[in-house]
Amino acid sequence: MGPAAETDLAVRSMEAADLSAEELFRLLTGAVVPRPIAWTSTISDTGVNNLSPFSFFTVVSSSPPMLLLSMEYKEGGFLKDSAENIAKTGEFVVNLPSSGMAWAVEVSSRPFPAEIDEFAQAGVTPLPSHRVRPPRVKEALISMECVLHDIFQPGSDRLIVGKIVVFHVAQKVLMPDDKINIPALDPLGRVANQFAYTGPIFTTPE
Ligand SMILES: Cc1cc2nc3c(=O)[nH]c(=O)nc-3n(C[C@H](O)[C@H](O)[C@H](O)COP(=O)(O)O)c2cc1C
Repeated sequence: MGPAAETDLAVRSMEAADLSAEELFRLLTGAVVPRPIAWTSTISDTGVNNLSPFSFFTVVSSSPPMLLLSMEYKEGGFLKDSAENIAKTGEFVVNLPSSGMAWAVEVSSRPFPAEIDEFAQAGVTPLPSHRVRPPRVKEALISMECVLHDIFQPGSDRLIVGKIVVFHVAQKVLMPDDKINIPALDPLGRVANQFAYTGPIFTTPE
């Protein structure tokens, strides 16, 4: 047996089509790491504030600035409250939690009924936004006010693309050249179904 074949034995290769939804979820959430967390505020059409974390989250365009959130459906195929609110109001705010906010993030992910204010449950302070109705999280060091651009669904989950209309950045994480001071931001990450700190940052040698 040649060296390549020996290496192959140490790897388990799996056809995606043979895996259950649960197995796929476990592989993806463990392999695509670390993920940032979009701590997302929305408001219902009756004015109830909602706050929920989404780690299937990324930038899709820098100019105009656009973000993408991916939301699963609830059991029975119902929309999550965040998805429902965004579809109805066309607005949301992505707040970025620091590591010390992990507990509040966890609490805000619980399936509270739609009429419960999740800012109050998580113990965080709603601060009025400038251009959208959902409030931002006062304790978050960065918040981005977004207007809905598009909703689409290439697979099992609902993808929400929003255009950022206002950035709020705490002075203490903004450096003189307008770069973000990452250690000061201390962003909370998601790895599998656990949380992670952002570790030491380095540059490769010249
Ligand atoms: C750190 C973290 C990340 C999460 N990421 C996602 C995600 O990317 N997509 C998703 O559908 N649910 C995700 N969840 C679960 C949702 O946060 C949870 O279902 C949500 O709070 C539902 O609330 P809502 O019905 O008020 O929108 C995550 C939970 C946690 C704790």
